[in-house]
Amino acid sequence: MIAIAIDGPSGAGKSTLARAAAGRYGYTYLDTGALYRSIGLFALRSGIRPEDREGVPALLPKLELRLTHEADGQHVFLCGEDVSAAIRTPEVSLAASGVSAQGPVRSYLLELQREIARRQNVVMDGRDIGTVILPDAQVKIFLTASSEERARRRYEELCQRGTPAPYEEVLADVIRRDREDSTRELAPLAPAADAVLLDTTGLSFEESFQALCALIEARLNGRAAK
Ligand code: DC
Repeated sequence: MIAIAIDGPSGAGKSTLARAAAGRYGYTYLDTGALYRSIGLFALRSGIRPEDREGVPALLPKLELRLTHEADGQHVFLCGEDVSAAIRTPEVSLAASGVSAQGPVRSYLLELQREIARRQNVVMDGRDIGTVILPDAQVKIFLTASSEERARRRYEELCQRGTPAPYEEVLADVIRRDREDSTRELAPLAPAADAVLLDTTGLSFEESFQALCALIEARLNGRAAK
């Protein structure tokens, strides 16, 4: 099986690019953030603070997570309910960040993610795919962009969705989440030693996608990608 790991901070364009790459190579796309988001949503709905180190682990045995892949992309089911849309709110983003700092949550999701990669070729996007989940992935990309650029993309996405927020607020949120994700004790956001860095600041989607595919193909063809 072949695994392409795409890690990086939020807003670097991981999900759009990873999905497009999966389409191009006929691999299954796995958005691992959706799993943390589902657990964040479950905590919120259960009235448990995402940082609660007793409450959140106690929820895990009650959790039933399932992923399906349909024509319109990945769907995530939480205890039988399709929560693919419900997990995309700013409130759930923060809750996901909170639960993702907890060891039992990460161990719970580790095997689930590995199992999917054992059964099919995957493009997996997340924060620790190349470092922890799939250390033997044939291709590891660390996708990044400046915080201002990532905030601008997020701002435009929110405007398009009809739920605008002030740019300054979006930027502050991006910076805060970066700090939380990269300074946490467990699986902090950092490139794997053998990952290739791709900075998409100033690049259009098409330019980023060309660059990504060039890196993937160079790696898969056994050439050193620089
Ligand atoms: O990629 P995203 O915004 O959907 O991720 C939501 C949160 O989950 C984010 O704060 C970081 C966390 N996450 C993680 O810790 N490890 C992953 N593999 C994916 C996401």
